[in-house]
Amino acid sequence: MFEEIEKYAQENFIPIIRPLSRQLLCEQVKKLNPKKILEIGTAIGFSGLLMLNCSNAVLTTVEKDGQRAEIAKENFARYGFEKRVNLVCDDAMTALKQFVNTKEQFDFVFLDGPKGQYYRYLPLLAKILNKNGAVFADDVFLHGLVRSNLPIPHKSRSMVNNMRKYLSLLETSPSFESEVLDVEDGIAISKKIDEL
Ligand SMILES: C[S@@+](CC[C@H](N)C(=O)[O-])C[C@H]1O[C@@H](n2cnc3c(N)ncnc32)[C@H](O)[C@@H]1O
Repeated sequence: MFEEIEKYAQENFIPIIRPLSRQLLCEQVKKLNPKKILEIGTAIGFSGLLMLNCSNAVLTTVEKDGQRAEIAKENFARYGFEKRVNLVCDDAMTALKQFVNTKEQFDFVFLDGPKGQYYRYLPLLAKILNKNGAVFADDVFLHGLVRSNLPIPHKSRSMVNNMRKYLSLLETSPSFESEVLDVEDGIAISKKIDEL
């Protein structure tokens, strides 16, 4: 699906969700049947289109890059999904705080924005996710660096440490039950549970 958008992304070096991860994402969306989906990291709308296409949900999607957001807007309209999309062009943390303040709630979150920030987003996601909702986080292995015992190159060190923090927060969080899947660049699926 959406081959032209995939081609555009490849030609313009825009990272989009990998093939097996796409399948898994759509399986999860179909299984959970969310009414409201939140995506962090729209890029040009490829994964958003996939989720819209395999559900009846309304998608709120956050992208800080104005040019990408503009292309995403056109892509959603091109496939007739514009009425089911709320595209927010802003920094994800700002948007998440806003959702908390306005008591916005979601049933499913696709986390695919800045990798070093996932651990900061998690407490906010716990607040805006409905019970039985889920967070699907992509790229949690960061090209194998997260599970590597070798020294991490300086330029990646804080991102890798922050992703390790995200994964250990998931292990200890009373709000989530998580599994980390060895699929492509690593996917963490976390189900919201009742806190004790
Ligand atoms: C991996 S791409 C998203 C790919 C998209 N989900 C897909 O599969 O089609 C990550 C996106 O997150 C955006 N991003 C990076 N930092 C951000 C931030 N602080 N807030 C919002 N978006 C951000 C980038 O501009 C980029 O387009």
